[in-house]
Amino acid sequence: MTVLDELAEIGRWWELAGPAREAVRRIAGGPSDQAGFTDNPYWDIVRQLPSLDGGRHGPRPDGFARGLPVGHHALTKRYAWAIPSPGDIAWLAAVLGPRALVEIGAGSGYWAWQARQAGIDVIAYEPADPLANAYTDGIEYFPLRPGDHTAARRHPDRALLLCWPSGDDPWASQALRAYTGDMVVYIGERRGGRCADDGFFQRLGREWTAVGASPHHVSWRYLDSTATAYRRTARRAWRRALRNGPAGRPAAAAWTWRPRSAGRPRRPGRG
Ligand SMILES: C[S@@+](CC[C@H](N)C(=O)[O-])C[C@H]1O[C@@H](n2cnc3c(N)ncnc32)[C@H](O)[C@@H]1O
Repeated sequence: MTVLDELAEIGRWWELAGPAREAVRRIAGGPSDQAGFTDNPYWDIVRQLPSLDGGRHGPRPDGFARGLPVGHHALTKRYAWAIPSPGDIAWLAAVLGPRALVEIGAGSGYWAWQARQAGIDVIAYEPADPLANAYTDGIEYFPLRPGDHTAARRHPDRALLLCWPSGDDPWASQALRAYTGDMVVYIGERRGGRCADDGFFQRLGREWTAVGASPHHVSWRYLDSTATAYRRTARRAWRRALRNGPAGRPAAAAWTWRPRSAGRPRRPGRG
């Protein structure tokens, strides 16, 4: 069945839904619908699904409504674990500015594909063979590089994207530890949810400061997905630069570095 066939069946679902449809709305044509500027079949489908009002969280597509040709599980495996709304992609491009992006644990590469279409210079890593990745259908939307969390170390010049890192798994925390750049975009549930492990959120809280969240992120019903950008907290950045040099290389001359306004070398972070 093609996406067009699925959309036609979803249309029929609305015709047959009768009184039940009073409780639900389509995102399409409503206030939360967003102008798409990328080829985004995931959003094309999601915006037509029955959605419940999530209050200040916006609409929550119900991927478990009976009688639909596709639902939550099928779509997350086919496309991505978080829904990339057009507003998310525009927000991502804005928050990155001129920065390039490296995605780790990219799954099918769907978010990387969206980012590339938005003009973002992106590379993406995934350790699993597409045909053996239980988190995807085996389709790749973007040329993925084979590699795990350790690849984060090689790209301090890019912002790091982590989207729905596997729950109760230390790899996201390890990626964050390995990464020596200055911006992380995390998409997923908050601490205690279904993503990453406690170590990841502890590190995020200790070393990173949130600088913005996508106001247009749409979460599946029953989930609480968020999209947030973080900058490295200044004091930590100083220490890391001292230890590694700004680009993560050993810094032989670290102690000669000084703030532009200072007259003599000072130890950063000591006032
Ligand atoms: C829940 S899926 C999310 C995939 C994708 N980011 C998305 O949102 O659709 C988690 C992904 O992490 C990958 N993964 C597992 N172990 C990893 C590791 N050590 N380093 C990087 N990625 C890993 C899995 O193969 C899988 O593709």
